[in-house]
Amino acid sequence: MHRIKLVLFVLLFVSLQTQSLSKQLHHDPIIDGVLNRLDSLRLTSSVQESAVKGLLQRLIPTHFHSFEFRIISKDVCGGSSCFVIENYDGSRRIGPEIVIKGTTGVEIASGLHWYLKYKCNAHVSWDKTGGIQIASVPQPGHLPRLASKGILIRRPVPWTYYQNVVTSSYSYVWWGWERWEREIDWMALQGINLPLAFTGQEAIWQKVFKRFNISKEDLDDYFGGPAFLAWARMGNLHAWGGPLSENWLGDQLLLQKQILSRMLELGMTPVLPSFSGNVPSALRKIYPGANITRLDNWNTVDGDPRWCCTYLLNPSDPLFIDIGEAFIKQQIEEYGEITNIYNW
Ligand SMILES: *[C@@H]1O[C@H](CO)[C@@H](O)[C@H](O)[C@H]1NC(C)=O
Ligand SMILES: *[C@@H]1O[C@H](CO)[C@@H](O)[C@H](O)[C@H]1NC(C)=O
Repeated sequence: MHRIKLVLFVLLFVSLQTQSLSKQLHHDPIIDGVLNRLDSLRLTSSVQESAVKGLLQRLIPTHFHSFEFRIISKDVCGGSSCFVIENYDGSRRIGPEIVIKGTTGVEIASGLHWYLKYKCNAHVSWDKTGGIQIASVPQPGHLPRLASKGILIRRPVPWTYYQNVVTSSYSYVWWGWERWEREIDWMALQGINLPLAFTGQEAIWQKVFKRFNISKEDLDDYFGGPAFLAWARMGNLHAWGGPLSENWLGDQLLLQKQILSRMLELGMTPVLPSFSGNVPSALRKIYPGANITRLDNWNTVDGDPRWCCTYLLNPSDPLFIDIGEAFIKQQIEEYGEITNIYNW
């Protein structure tokens, strides 16, 4: 428990640092280059608009016709991301009453949340922090109007990141699509545009390691069981709680594709996993010349070598580049060119 808190704290610290950094670096040519490239990968306006319409339908179906959504160019907000909320011009009785414009689907969704929260006193949260309370939203035809010109809210930092590398395992490992869909809706409403997408990575690793002549049995000794994925990914233990079945691996990969599709439809930039150097022990026999170090026991089950003391490939070894590159390429093959941001 102590350790988890420490990890959370460190990540929080890092994310605060990153936020202030991104503020300073906002007009750094390298950061601008990445932002432009990520913008160029974004799906069309109509795809993003209908994705937020879908979210509206799930969140508050009675008001499906009360809102109109439109993607706008960043030029409208001086080159940064923003949302704009305006009154709809025209008869209020049947059609839309409020127009929400945003530079991406996420900006529109966070504009919708802003309107529901500050104009209608609604509360949209996780189940354990109050859930979705929308009874205060007036009936269609009676939605609160905005002051004549409406409002424009600019995103203060380009990226809002979400999740650390253990939540995807400890908290979400048993989630199916329905629960994920709710979480992604929540993310969009909160303005999260840079979510971690760690699901299904073992299925990718299986394909990658096969090319490095690692057998299925070798991988059974390497992957952790479903509830211990984070521990095994970080090299704290191996094989414990496993092996992962072919069904599990296949289902997780399908789920990841669903998760990524929805994130992209909403205009988010998913953060994919990359290679940390943690390798199956069998790699030493296949590449005897590689610089692979055996780690000490890190608080694993009784210090038993069946589960403890994993292997780390030195990052300056050429094999590190080969495996790291193969992993990125395999993800591009599965998911397409969808991001430039990776985490390990
Ligand atoms: C992997 O296996 C193939 C087929 O048996 C073999 O040709 C290749 O040399 C092996 N690669 C390594 C690095 O052992
Ligand atoms: C092998 O890796 C270890 C630990 O990563 C490092 O200290 C050592 O210098 C490396 N040896 C060579 C020959 O690169």
